[in-house]
Amino acid sequence: MTFRMPDFIEKKKLAREHSPDSIEQFIKSLVANEIPDYQTAAWLMAVRLNGMTDLETASLTNAMAQNGEIINLDDFPNSADKHSTGGVGDKTTLIAAPLAAACGVPVIKFSGRALDFTGGTLDKLESIPGFQTSLSSEHIKKQASDIGLVLAGTSKNMVPADKILYSLRDVTSTVDSIPLIAASIISKKIAGGAANIVLDVKFGDGAFMQKYDDAKSLANSMVSIGTKLGKKVRAILSSMDSPLGQNVGNTMEVIEAIEVLKGNGNDDLVELSVELASRMVALSRGDDDFDSIKAEVLNRISDASALKKFKSMITAQGGDERIIDDYGILPHAEFRFSYTAPESGFISKIAMRQIGNLVRQLGGGRLKKDDVIDPAVGLRFFKWKSYPVEKGERIVDAYYNDKQHKELIESTLKSAIETSDSQGEITPLIREII
Ligand code: URA
Repeated sequence: MTFRMPDFIEKKKLAREHSPDSIEQFIKSLVANEIPDYQTAAWLMAVRLNGMTDLETASLTNAMAQNGEIINLDDFPNSADKHSTGGVGDKTTLIAAPLAAACGVPVIKFSGRALDFTGGTLDKLESIPGFQTSLSSEHIKKQASDIGLVLAGTSKNMVPADKILYSLRDVTSTVDSIPLIAASIISKKIAGGAANIVLDVKFGDGAFMQKYDDAKSLANSMVSIGTKLGKKVRAILSSMDSPLGQNVGNTMEVIEAIEVLKGNGNDDLVELSVELASRMVALSRGDDDFDSIKAEVLNRISDASALKKFKSMITAQGGDERIIDDYGILPHAEFRFSYTAPESGFISKIAMRQIGNLVRQLGGGRLKKDDVIDPAVGLRFFKWKSYPVEKGERIVDAYYNDKQHKELIESTLKSAIETSDSQGEITPLIREII
């Protein structure tokens, strides 16, 4: 039957199920540039509002992966990959990937850009002068053999459907959809070729899935689709109700990741990064002795071998490796504003979505498809949820380049950060492993 986009949109508007064949035709037309953005955006919103069945999600994932280049990593049968569903200040890839690589696991990872209020690994890496994220498959394989660590963007030909959908979702309020996130992530993992995949599925205010139960459904959906498509998959459910580590913002997150690899990380960031890296190593080796793997991973920080891996990767991808010891080479913002506690008490809430959006508005993310990112802007936290604060004590520093942003920063932080008399419940960062 001839594919007609208005009929396809209408069907989802009425919450009816698409056939695998119609989804395949949609993706083929999409990547052939035959569908205008406004029709794709209308369909995305219909999916966001009416959802998709498991069969539709699996068909969409498969069609997205198959209609593009698939990297053959047969030479690296133990390779591992990790992917986060998106968070605020989540720089764990920059830490977990070199840690796993330093344990001898080849890590060939295809990362994404900032999406909505969340940050993206590619944008962070590109704040390193000279660093290239667009690599040929020959380069990727050579670098994987030479140093066992590659952090790249998907090439033009890999999952082209995701590139179109991702950038439209970013600006049409259609990101927070379980089937769209699952298909976006798993299609890239299939095309990326790694045999072992660890997913960091976030929940809470700074995640696309605010409720734990929704995050768990997303995790189950991705584990099930990935497993059906022949991958070994683990998912970690982690909270995004407080900043992860200290910094939010591209350059600032790169610096913080380097500090963790130097042994100077905040406990929560180290905990999650080590958990992710250990799961990658365990899956890759098929080894259940998780405690000894975790100890090995921690050693890769103390013996500085993970830092060395990160440095070799920067050089191999054209970046200036001197940034490891000289942060002055990185872009820095012109202005700083310190936000202090208006009263004494405990920090009862940090509205992470507002925090992510603030960094986006300062220039750290995109508001329109073609916006250029300012790598230098960001926030540095000194207090987190449930921490005690004295009136006047510094909670967060904002770094910005546009003088006029000062008011926005002050008013946003005032409404995003709440204090109260009681400490409230202290919740664990890692809630469950699937
Ligand atoms: N990360 C992705 O790669 N895709 C999404 O849709 C969300 C997070």
